[in-house]
Amino acid sequence: MKKFFRIMASTVLAASMLAGCGSSGAAATTESPKPAESAAAATAEAATESTDGDLSTKKVGVCIYQFSDNFMTLFRNELESYLVSLGFSKDNITIVDGANDQGTQTNQITNFLTQGVDVLIVNPVNSSSAATLTDMVVDAGVPLVYINREPDADEEARWADNNWDVTYVGCDARQSGTMQGEIIVDLGLEKVDLNGNGKVDYVMIEGDPENVDAQYRTEFSVKALTDAGWEVNELDDQVGMWQQEQGQALVANALAAHPETEVVFCNNDAMALGAKQAIDAAGRTVGEDIFLVGVDALTEALELVANGGMTGTVFNDHLSQSHSAADAAVNYLTGAGNEHYIGCDYVKATKDNVADIQALLG
Ligand code: GAL
Repeated sequence: MKKFFRIMASTVLAASMLAGCGSSGAAATTESPKPAESAAAATAEAATESTDGDLSTKKVGVCIYQFSDNFMTLFRNELESYLVSLGFSKDNITIVDGANDQGTQTNQITNFLTQGVDVLIVNPVNSSSAATLTDMVVDAGVPLVYINREPDADEEARWADNNWDVTYVGCDARQSGTMQGEIIVDLGLEKVDLNGNGKVDYVMIEGDPENVDAQYRTEFSVKALTDAGWEVNELDDQVGMWQQEQGQALVANALAAHPETEVVFCNNDAMALGAKQAIDAAGRTVGEDIFLVGVDALTEALELVANGGMTGTVFNDHLSQSHSAADAAVNYLTGAGNEHYIGCDYVKATKDNVADIQALLG
């Protein structure tokens, strides 16, 4: 029951937020329905009812690119509990850690296929390896749901062209980047341009550059500023691989080299938490003499947004994404099938609405 209300709350929150955001998202998926209310989810619900007994015997293999990733930890925990709530047996759900090594993950997929699984859910280490992974899984006759790291357009086209049981569930990272930039733009140039040079002097901390989320967030966060007619000045752009410690070290260096930094953009919250430590250590104060944004809406980041320690973040809806991935798996198992792309919307999180997002996440 609790879960049902959370799904409803998620849908209502996203709908109200999006109504407020208007057409702020850069991506085409901005207009797609929330997965929780999508036709795919409805089909999965109906199918689950009719095959409830069967799901408990179905084997699900889940490959996560790296267990130590904060956001993917939220995602995988929710995925497992939602699969169980749909009727899968916990014993038949195997979740493995790719340890950020594609060779390791490819072996894990081979093992799953050899041992026999009914469906695979894969968060690839390298999205560029997707074609190889898809071929292995399709050849074995197993349906495949990619999550979080989107394969490229050519790869997705192959699924449709061949009518394979392969889909991707995720959000469009362009939207999250745009929202990060908009959070800064909403403050007004006068407030952000602390040194009055007519430009926003910023530092960018990127996630894994192989990952389209990092590429798009880096590009579209800054684009939102220039689209607003603001001039920008990039002081530093470093790769922190989504990790807090790296975010902390990189921002400490950046602030020492560039005390004129006005905005720190981090491609995710883990790195933003590290950035916050570096900002504190440098004796700077977010909201007064520097601004800081992340993405994900990790619990600690939401607390900081609430007390002004971070300017804002963008909610990366792991509830919707994990539920849609599980629903898609069910749709393959029941023969209902899926579209080859299942989208989801991001939601801006600032001091104004952070309490709503905290309430949603419980
Ligand atoms: C992103 C998320 C990051 C990291 C990454 C892994 O969507 O914002 O924190 O988890 O996925 O691919």
